[in-house]
Amino acid sequence: MPPVDLLLIGIGTGNPDHLTRQAVAAISSADLVLVPRKGPDKADLAEIREAILAGILPAGSARIAAFDMPVREAKAPYGDAVDRWHDAIAARWLGAIEAALPMGGTVALLVWGDPSLYDSTLRIAERLMPSPIRSIRVVPGITALQALAAAHAIPLNGIGEPFTVTTGRQVRAHGWPEGCRTLAIMLDDGTALDALDPEGLTIWWGAYLGMPNEIIDHGALGEVRERIAMRRAEARAAHGWIMDVTLIRRD
Ligand SMILES: C[S@@+](CC[C@H](N)C(=O)[O-])C[C@H]1O[C@@H](n2cnc3c(N)ncnc32)[C@H](O)[C@@H]1O
Repeated sequence: MPPVDLLLIGIGTGNPDHLTRQAVAAISSADLVLVPRKGPDKADLAEIREAILAGILPAGSARIAAFDMPVREAKAPYGDAVDRWHDAIAARWLGAIEAALPMGGTVALLVWGDPSLYDSTLRIAERLMPSPIRSIRVVPGITALQALAAAHAIPLNGIGEPFTVTTGRQVRAHGWPEGCRTLAIMLDDGTALDALDPEGLTIWWGAYLGMPNEIIDHGALGEVRERIAMRRAEARAAHGWIMDVTLIRRD
C-alpha cells in the first residue's frame, strides 16, 4: 500500500465547542477521515462525531469513510481479547483506507477526549508502522478529567501533590492505592465506589460531561454514594449508555 500519514485528532468529550482551531485545521487538511460505526447503543456518540464533521466537510463528502468497529470477545481473558480486538480494528482501518484512498495520503481519526489518556488508537496505529503508516501526528484534545475539574471548578491535585488516575477495574481488584490522596477513576461500570471505605473521602462525580445531558454530583462519599449510584443507573437506563468519571480526595 502507498504510504499513509496519520492524524490523530482529540475532539474533547462531547461538546462540539471543545474542538480546537488546530483540530479544525487538521480535519480540513486530511485527504480522508475514518469514522467508526459502533452499533445502535452508541448512536449518540456517532452523531456527535458527525455533527463535528458536518461543520467542516460537506455532507456526503468522499473524504469521509465509515468502517464497522469489530466487537471485543467477551469470554477470552481481558488482555488477549483486547490484543485481538486491536488487530481486528487495524485490519478494518486498512480495508477502509485501501478502498477510499488507494493512492495513500493523509488520513485522520477523531479520538474522544485526547489520544494520550485511556485510548488505544496510538497502540493500534503502531501495528501498521512503518508501512503503510509512515508518520503519526497528534492534535491534543480536552480530556474527561479536565471536563470534570472544570464542571466542578476544582483543581485535580492538592498543592504540590501527585494524583493517581486509574480504572474502575483496578479499584475493584486492588482498592485504594497505597500512599494516594487524590484518585481519579475512569472506565467504571458503576461498582468501583462500593470497593472503597468511604471514611474521610470526598467525591466529585460527572457523567456525559460537556454534553447537554451533563450530570454532576459532589459530597462526602458516605453521604452521596447511594444517590450517585441511583442517578447513574437512571441515566444509563434512559440513554442506553453512560460515560462517567470520578475524583476522590482523602481529607
Ligand atoms: C476509553 S476512555 C477515553 C478517555 C478519553 N481519551 C479522554 O481523554 O478523556 C472512556 C472513559 O473516559 C471517561 N469519559 C469520556 N468522556 C466522558 C464524558 N463526556 N463524561 C464523563 N466521562 C467521560 C469515562 O470514564 C469513560 O469510561
